[in-house]
Amino acid sequence: MGKSVILFWVGIIFIALGCGQPPSSGTETRSPKPPVNQPVMPPPPPAPSARTDGKAIFEKNCATCHGTRGLGDGPMAAGLPNKPTNLALDITQKKEDKKLAEIIKEGTDKGMPPWKYILKEEEIQEVVKHLRELGKKK
Ligand code: HEC
Repeated sequence: MGKSVILFWVGIIFIALGCGQPPSSGTETRSPKPPVNQPVMPPPPPAPSARTDGKAIFEKNCATCHGTRGLGDGPMAAGLPNKPTNLALDITQKKEDKKLAEIIKEGTDKGMPPWKYILKEEEIQEVVKHLRELGKKK
């Protein structure tokens, strides 16, 4: 009885010391950790500045009345006493940039709101450029 208890403990110690495991071959199979390829965050693409993009300015401020294509068919058009001008037509396109900028800045007494308090000079110039684009899409 006593002998088997000793054998039991010897066995436990053997296992605990790792003697039951095959001898280590000595060669490290664990390769050194490869350098972690942390994806370097690419810089965000330059956001198209809504403030100087004539198309964006137009779609945000003008399309409600004039329509996205400037045809005078915006969602608010029907409720206005005067129809917003179809900006793609000659009547507008034949006006000089300066004249168009002036109308946009000052508005008209027939329902075109003045934008000089809302848009910066440079933004109005961009919108005028966009009006020319609308004219080409007739
Ligand atoms: C509240 C509705 C409304 C909004 C918003 C609006 N317009 Fe107008 N717009 C009109 C109306 C109505 C007219 C016609 C006014 C008139 O005949 O005097 C007009 C006329 C114009 C004209 C004159 C066209 C011409 O040949 O005489 C230009 C240019 C114009 N708008 C550009 C713009 C631009 C650019 C914006 C945005 C920055 C804008 N409008 C926003 C209602 C609007």
